Amino acid sequence: MQLPFPLQKRIHSVTNLIAVASGKGGVGKTTIAVNLALALQQQGAKVGLYDADLYGPNVPLMLGIRRKKSAASIHPSGMIPTARVNNAPYIPPIARYGLQIMSVGLLMATDDAVMPDPRMAGHIIRQTLQDVMWGNLDFLLLDLPPGTGEPQQTLLEAFQLDGVVLVTTPQDLSLMDAGRSLKFFQQFKAPILGVVENMSYLMCPHCGEQIEVFQRSPGESFLQQQNVELLGRIPMHIEISRGISAGHPLMEDASDATHAQAFQQIAQKIMQKCTGQNDGK
Ligand SMILES: Nc1ncnc2c1ncn2[C@@H]1O[C@H](COP(=O)(O)OP(=O)(O)OP(=O)(O)O)[C@@H](O)[C@H]1O
Ligand SMILES: [Mg+2]
Repeated sequence: MQLPFPLQKRIHSVTNLIAVASGKGGVGKTTIAVNLALALQQQGAKVGLYDADLYGPNVPLMLGIRRKKSAASIHPSGMIPTARVNNAPYIPPIARYGLQIMSVGLLMATDDAVMPDPRMAGHIIRQTLQDVMWGNLDFLLLDLPPGTGEPQQTLLEAFQLDGVVLVTTPQDLSLMDAGRSLKFFQQFKAPILGVVENMSYLMCPHCGEQIEVFQRSPGESFLQQQNVELLGRIPMHIEISRGISAGHPLMEDASDATHAQAFQQIAQKIMQKCTGQNDGK
């Protein structure tokens, strides 16, 4: 049954709200979200990135942003003690490498906190997203935790997405999980921009040879059946993981490297798809 979502709204001043999602954990969503945000920016877009992973906020680490001890403005109870006037956004984003960044984990008083239950976490994440003073953005990427529970449910009920990028790896299990995610987002009528296959093959840092590490699953036929585009294949590369660990993502540090090309191509496709969709907005 298709449900209407009359409460879905748009985020003021954001043209394209794009979720980066996966069914399974650890497939590289955050790595892809951070590098794609930079790749979109390099193509001239104004880009924000919202880390919606309350339990494992990795965006700040990957961008070398340290938590300020006194930054807590949201209590785990869900009460937001800072004054919010007329529901106007009041949280300044963090500027990093030209991106506008916010991580809900940075705002939580987690030092000795009891983590909120998932539905409450969903509400906190939704509220924070609209409380950030994003400014005019062409793209706001949402780095979601894995799965189709919370906060995905609350976010999709609350906001109209302009696109979903599903991240998967070549293995079967991951593809089955991607299928589950696909149905979940389609149920909310969110346009599926396509799938990014991460850790698709190993790229030797010495000779550039492409080594197929994982046994390939019938992933492309699965995508064809579902009428979903494969946006690109990202190699497994030591500079991708090192850049992420050092807080200097590949697309900030070495965006012209061979293994960075896939990010540029994916960003181009997303720009084209979203521009087409936006014509009628
Ligand atoms: N293409 C890649 N090449 C090398 N390392 C990668 C690549 N993609 C991701 N990684 C590494 O894999 C690990 C997991 O990546 P990441 O944290 O982005 O996954 P995730 O899907 O966001 O995880 P979670 O589900 O926990 O949020 C990280 O250490 C990251 O550096
Ligand atoms: Mg992540």
